[in-house]
Amino acid sequence: MGIETSCDETAAAVVADGRVVKSSVVASQTNLHAKYGGVVPELASRAHLEKICPVISEALEQALVTKDDIDAIAVANQPGLTVALIVGVTAAKTLSMTWQKPLIAINHLHAHIQSAIFNEPDLPPHLAVARQQRGPAIALIVSGGHTSLYDYRSPLEPRLLGRTIDDAAGEAFDKVAMILNLPYPGGPSIENVAKNGDPDAIDFPRTMLDKDSLDFSFSGIKTAVLYHCQGQDMKGENRVASMGQNQIADIAASFQKAVVDVLVKKTRRGAEKIRAKTVLLGGGVAANTALRNALQQMCDSLTPPLKLLVADKRYCTDNAVMVASLAYHKYKAKLFADLSLEPKASG
Ligand code: KG4
Ligand code: ZN
Repeated sequence: MGIETSCDETAAAVVADGRVVKSSVVASQTNLHAKYGGVVPELASRAHLEKICPVISEALEQALVTKDDIDAIAVANQPGLTVALIVGVTAAKTLSMTWQKPLIAINHLHAHIQSAIFNEPDLPPHLAVARQQRGPAIALIVSGGHTSLYDYRSPLEPRLLGRTIDDAAGEAFDKVAMILNLPYPGGPSIENVAKNGDPDAIDFPRTMLDKDSLDFSFSGIKTAVLYHCQGQDMKGENRVASMGQNQIADIAASFQKAVVDVLVKKTRRGAEKIRAKTVLLGGGVAANTALRNALQQMCDSLTPPLKLLVADKRYCTDNAVMVASLAYHKYKAKLFADLSLEPKASG
């Protein structure tokens, strides 16, 4: 059983053999945070407390199993909001103790990588990607809190190559949506509006940092959108209210293209650096069709082409299937946690 409470989704899932989804229950708090335009940690924590027991019960019920069928309890204990993580961690420790099952600590970002590969028919979960694809994989994880590139050779040891030095890609989507008065969460709103816009209408900056850097920076593009809407000195009137739908759509499409360009170029740079044969894509922003298509094009354009494995859309945003699926590998390797397990904000 996997448990996930790192941000604003309370989730539990039962997964067999690392790949067969028996149940997946996600209680989203989107409506709770919508009016604030972002996640309010204290509200998230309280909502997790209310939901965690019903969500776990429902995951067992939907899977048609009882506690006796569960082999281990896995929980995302890092990174995330500490006040949110602690709810899942406490629930998992309690179940581990009372049900007498091993406890497994899962890194939320490593679990996002797992969501890209766990149900690949060509890739039995007990085989490392590196062995199967005869080369390492580069994994791009793009979420609301993180934007990271990993050298990925097996589920147990992804190696971090680069990460955002300021805003995460999803955070930039959320903030730009707020500037454009689009509903929260910003990613799906921007994607939707961008469909009617011209991605080449505005040339927003693409921050690539140093020539060899695999780090990301998205605060510049967010500020560029703000200046575009409110003037360079921010002293002009906020023009968004008087803009037509076409203008908003052009800004959304141009912003999305600029972010996607950076993500794709950096992934290519990382793939070249580690001589990757495969690209893995996961995290909330991985649900974005423009990003999925652009990465596919990049992979196809290389000789030899790279193989792209992308998380199923329902497993891009936070869920507990990815937690339980990664736990399978830790279970096999007997990598268990004990009751001193604590939540950790970073990771
Ligand atoms: O992985 P996730 O559910 O939570 C974190 O771990 O942060 O990612 C949530 C993020 C939000 O910033 C949301 O706006 C973004 O993923 N997102 C998208 C799309 N769907 C969700 N961004 C761009 N396009 C989407 N379709
Ligand atoms: Zn996430």
